[in-house]
Amino acid sequence: MKVRDSGMPDEPYWESLFDIPLILKRLAIGRFHDVAELGCGYGTFTVPIAKAIRGTVYTFDLEPEMLARTRARAAGLRVICQQRDVVECGFGVQVDVVLLFNILHCEQPVSLLDHATAALRPGGEVLVIHWRHGTTPRGPNLAIRPRPEQIAEWATLAGLEPAGEVLDLPPWHYGLRLRRK
Ligand SMILES: C[S@@+](CC[C@H](N)C(=O)[O-])C[C@H]1O[C@@H](n2cnc3c(N)ncnc32)[C@H](O)[C@@H]1O
Repeated sequence: MKVRDSGMPDEPYWESLFDIPLILKRLAIGRFHDVAELGCGYGTFTVPIAKAIRGTVYTFDLEPEMLARTRARAAGLRVICQQRDVVECGFGVQVDVVLLFNILHCEQPVSLLDHATAALRPGGEVLVIHWRHGTTPRGPNLAIRPRPEQIAEWATLAGLEPAGEVLDLPPWHYGLRLRRK
């Protein structure tokens, strides 16, 4: 089932909304080997992450055009793009880090966090970024947009706990690192 409010604007506009090097630095993405990502979108994070790690990025989306765009941008990198409904089926891989970027406004966040926990190898982390709760140029309706404290509560129900403070990811995002309890 496609996550509510998960459609994308055009690619240049979407990618103007993030400081991608800063986000990857603050999440310390280079520590990890294999990565699983829910929603490759345009490959906005897939491609720079594949360049920053030594393992493989497994990335999943429902939309054929998103998968095609990411595959084209990721040519020559260790990236596996698959059409898969992660909400229904989970990730189907075991990795060192799971990325839930701009997606936890979904209908069943604890179930999705359960899928993420199940995909983690020992010592792994779930990394979340989401839109700040307030006026932003894009992002889901505030009525369904989770605050960091809300995500931390859901994470607890999925067997996870915060691994550090909430990260400031300007201009528009915050981040959370979650590990198994
Ligand atoms: C808001 S976009 C975020 C893309 C990317 N994570 C980013 O931050 O640039 C959400 C993406 O998730 C995909 N998606 C939505 N529901 C999904 C599902 N159930 N399984 C896999 N992908 C899904 C959408 O097609 C879309 O490309």
